[in-house]
Order: sequence, then structure tokens, then C-alpha cells
Amino acid sequence: MNINYVTINDCNELDRLRFIKFVYDNTDSFILNTFGHVWSGRNWWEKFPIEVCTDDTGKVLGLHAYTVNDKAQYTLKTYYIVTSKESRGKGVAKLLIKNAIHKHKDRIKIYYVNSDIKSQGAIFYKKWFGNNFNTAKNDFNSEDITFKEPIYNIIDGQS
Ligand SMILES: CC(C)(COP(=O)(O)OP(=O)(O)OC[C@H]1O[C@@H](n2cnc3c(N)ncnc32)[C@H](O)[C@@H]1OP(=O)(O)O)[C@@H](O)C(=O)NCCC(=O)NCCS
Repeated sequence: MNINYVTINDCNELDRLRFIKFVYDNTDSFILNTFGHVWSGRNWWEKFPIEVCTDDTGKVLGLHAYTVNDKAQYTLKTYYIVTSKESRGKGVAKLLIKNAIHKHKDRIKIYYVNSDIKSQGAIFYKKWFGNNFNTAKNDFNSEDITFKEPIYNIIDGQS
């Protein structure tokens, strides 16, 4: 199976609802399900186009919504990364993140992400980046772990 990597520069309201449903169908996390609200509410569909991986039939395997140099300089920040339940563990999330970093590498230095300590994201990022993270209480009676990873560790590294 080929995995295609697509930037969604143009999408109509129905496409947006399909992407929002993809997130809804593939995570139980309340925080991740705020995706539609955040991307539409901030008018980010055009400013920060999401990227997806699809299979050859066009079926979405994973979705990555991120900003570049928004609040922090030289920083790509992942807000939402979700892969379909059937395609987990096949490298789709890593591919989405690596491709995004590669695409913007001339204007960023840092990859930033935070994730609830109890989430699958926390397991995924710890496995990839190791124990170099900070923790802080979040608004959901839990803790976030935050990674600020220099991009040369990601695009030049073996991981
Ligand atoms: C977290 C998530 C995006 C990972 O997606 P994925 O496509 O399965 O990740 P990858 O296949 O690229 O994983 C890369 C590595 O992490 C490992 N990994 C990923 N999720 C893991 C998990 N829950 N437990 C153990 N290992 C995991 C993979 O085995 C793989 O290891 P390898 O590089 O040694 O082969 C996916 O589980 C998901 O969508 N979860 C629900 C939403 C979520 O929690 N998003 C993160 C919010 S920040």
C-alpha cells in the first residue's frame, strides 16, 4: 500500500466536516475533539492548512493540524495529530510530523508539542524523543508533558 501525503489548501464546508468527523471517529479525547472548533474559530483552515496521509483510494489514514511561527518564533507546533485506528503503528504519525518539519525547515528551529500525560500521544512522543520533556498541571485535572525538540534531532536523527 502506498501512503500519500497531502496538504489541504482548498476545502469546502463538507470536506471540513469530514476531517472533523475523522478526528471524532478516531479518538475519545475531549481535547482532540476541539479540533473543528479551534481550526474554524481561528480561521486557520487557510492560514495553517492541515495535512493528511491517504491510501491509494483517497481514504484518510492520519491528520496533522499545526501552526508555524504563530505565537513562538522559529517554531512548528502540533495541535492535533490523529491516525485512524486501523493504521496505527505503521509510521503514519511520524511521517506526517517529519514531512511537515522538512517542508518548513528553512524557517523553524524547534518542534513543539504538548500532550496529556495519560494520552497515547504521550506514549508516542516519549518513545520518539525520550525523557527530555517538562511537565505542568493542565486545566483538566491532569498534567501535560511538553517537548521542545530541535528540528535537527528529528530530520537528521535516526528516529
Ligand atoms: C498517538 C498516535 C497519533 C500515534 O500514531 P501512529 O500512526 O500509530 O504512530 P506511528 O506508527 O508513527 O508510531 C511511531 C512509533 O511509536 C510507537 N507508538 C505509537 N503509538 C504507540 C502507543 N500507543 N503505544 C506504544 N507505542 C506506540 C509505534 O509503535 C512506533 O514505534 P517504532 O518507531 O519503534 O516503530 C495515535 O495513536 C493516535 O491517533 N492516538 C489518538 C489520538 C492521540 O492521542 N493523539 C496525540 C495527541 S498529541
